[in-house]
Amino acid sequence: MSIRFGLKMTASAVILAASAAVSATVASAASVEVLHWWTSGGEAAALNVLKEDLASKGVDWQDMPVAGGGGEAAMTTLRARVTAGNAPTAVQMLGFDIRDWAAQGKLANLDDVAAAEGWDAVVPDALKFFSKYDGHWVAAPVNVHSTNWVWINKKALDAAGGKLPTNWDEFVAMLDAMKANGITPLAHGGQAWQDATLFDAVVLSMGNDFYKASMIDLDEGALGGARMVEVFNRMAKLRSYVDDNFSGRDWNLASAMVINGEAGAQMMGDWAKGEFLKAGLEPGKDFECIRFPGTQGSVTFNSDQFAMFQVSDPEAQKAQKLMASAVMNPTFQSAFNVVKGSVPARTDVPDTAFDACGKKGMKDLAEANANGSLFGSMAHGHAVPASIKNAIYDVVTAHFNGEYSAEEAAAELVAAVADAK
Ligand code: GAL
Repeated sequence: MSIRFGLKMTASAVILAASAAVSATVASAASVEVLHWWTSGGEAAALNVLKEDLASKGVDWQDMPVAGGGGEAAMTTLRARVTAGNAPTAVQMLGFDIRDWAAQGKLANLDDVAAAEGWDAVVPDALKFFSKYDGHWVAAPVNVHSTNWVWINKKALDAAGGKLPTNWDEFVAMLDAMKANGITPLAHGGQAWQDATLFDAVVLSMGNDFYKASMIDLDEGALGGARMVEVFNRMAKLRSYVDDNFSGRDWNLASAMVINGEAGAQMMGDWAKGEFLKAGLEPGKDFECIRFPGTQGSVTFNSDQFAMFQVSDPEAQKAQKLMASAVMNPTFQSAFNVVKGSVPARTDVPDTAFDACGKKGMKDLAEANANGSLFGSMAHGHAVPASIKNAIYDVVTAHFNGEYSAEEAAAELVAAVADAK
């Protein structure tokens, strides 16, 4: 008995000593726990650029990945963690979600690091609307993605006549030719946020004013009118080019279908480029990137930002500031975004290291910003708060799955948005 008891004591003592040593290490090194949803091949490669950058600055990374494109699952986990009084130190976050947490008083103030590094002068207003709340910096933007892209397999395009489509009719003609060639024309994953990503592009193709009126101003006439009916008709047409197994498929598996030639094209934000690059493909040679036909000159954007939650430990606060500073470093923003598929969140980063799609992305963004044709992506939380976004998702997905006619969907959209307001 006494020997066994003694042994037990020894084992517990070892465990206690070991955990004391671990907490001593954690307390002495700057350490951040980062909640994010970057789990696909391309996303993980980009995340590694950030992890390595932080390691070189002595910041220890505690990974908290929550898989699920678009980040809905990650946001559910975040709510549970905050409710339990155990918020992660840093969280990947989009648009109105940042404003929402800031309004609840949960985010840390990054004003001193922002002032010391002059963030105000280099971050465009469209991003600052989300990075700052009540005049205070609450998040550090790491990139700008845009959602109105089409990624096309070059061989499949050549076999379909080789012409890049510039309008809806040409797009349909390309997809028809791909179908005739025996491949899946449109690679798609049936998840609400992916359906909404298609919808964003189709709405934008009906005109900048229409996108703004319907997706940002939530104007009833735009949400329920003839143009919205046409949007839903086009969504049904797109649905006819999707394969039978699309339901629930992750976006990166849809990208893989285009990469391996099983499918011709994917309508997706430029995080898809991260997958193409990870697979060793080159833009212009193996794949093409074009704006969704009819949206040339306009951009729907979303920006991944790292919001820092309020923490009391001064070491953790120090680590948050080190991370925010690292994320905003211009050299880092170039290295990271080259891999991620996005473009820098700062206006002063040169495009030299970027490939043709990245250079186009940076040019399009700057021009759209200057011309008033830059809009927050509804699908990715930059047009309206989550409650309204989710109401729009429900209608778009139900229609995509054949539950409503185009006319019914437009009427449902008006009702769903009114209810969610
Ligand atoms: C977006 C996010 C991107 C990318 C994508 C798919 O919402 O901004 O960085 O990760 O989801 O997961």
